[in-house]
Amino acid sequence: MERFEPRKFVARKIQALRSHASGKRVIVAVSGGIDSMVCFEIARNATIKQEGQTIPFIIDTGLMRQNEVKQTEEYFRKKYNIELQRWDKQNEFISALKGIVSPEEKRKTFRDIFYRIISQAMRSYAADILVQGTILSDIIETQKGIKTHFNVLHEAGINPANYGLSLFEPLKELTKSRVRMVARSFAIPPKFLRIQPFPGPGFALRITGEVTFERVAKIRKATEIVESELMSPKIFQGFPVLLTDKATGIQNESAFVGDIIAIRIVESKDSLSARSYRIPWIKMDKIAKRILTEIPGIARVLYDVTSKPPGTIEFV
Ligand code: XMP
Repeated sequence: MERFEPRKFVARKIQALRSHASGKRVIVAVSGGIDSMVCFEIARNATIKQEGQTIPFIIDTGLMRQNEVKQTEEYFRKKYNIELQRWDKQNEFISALKGIVSPEEKRKTFRDIFYRIISQAMRSYAADILVQGTILSDIIETQKGIKTHFNVLHEAGINPANYGLSLFEPLKELTKSRVRMVARSFAIPPKFLRIQPFPGPGFALRITGEVTFERVAKIRKATEIVESELMSPKIFQGFPVLLTDKATGIQNESAFVGDIIAIRIVESKDSLSARSYRIPWIKMDKIAKRILTEIPGIARVLYDVTSKPPGTIEFV
């Protein structure tokens, strides 16, 4: 196999976008993760001669981690002295997802509303090209029919032109570990390289059953706890999932019926396969105790020992 050379790869993508985007305005869909940060670097370098030609844009879906949008805004201000354009669309996403319990339906609903908003943004900024950080595993999973990754259009049989979009996806042929190599070549700070992959539809995939503001608040708090306790470099992703079933528990010496949270922690290279992380029991115990004491209404914490395959990484 040919050796992967991040600098050559980047030079090729910058050149491709430059010839494609001449005289056009470019929007980069930013999510707070490494893939879209790398996309922004490519777009910024491709359009460096014309100030304002590349616009970083983030949709606040209300389904992201605590402070994720704020930290991303600060990153753009500090590193590039540029204002990340943020559209607050939390209500739109939560109301569109109301009553939807089927995983595939949730993903498709998220995709539709996401691209409708992006298409409005393209019109409002008079932009012609959308740069987004789809990676190889998103495409493979969608093509194999395992699940529809929200950011895969062409390969899912959707013409981006239906949303009025012309797409540029520079990372389409890369695995996550290669994206990280490219990120290092751009000197993206290690703090961001360590951020766990977080899917675009965010907490919609980490809640089985209906997505509501209240359920999102619970899983957001549990996610903060789990992420703050997980340090091992072996871990690819580690997160809690809020289940639909309920269980009995005891609170203030009386019985109650509360929520169940499953913890999923996996080791993986490229997310196409994964194995459940053998978490030290002391650590697991600490995570469980914190969730049960810090989040009201949780009655049980479970640990998921399923590999991929047969399980997928996310629950939805
Ligand atoms: P699964 O659940 O398919 O997840 O085993 C594999 C990897 O993909 C991430 N994931 C997504 N990423 N859009 C994304 O950008 C999506 O719709 C999506 N769904 C899953 C997941 O977090 C894991 O890393």
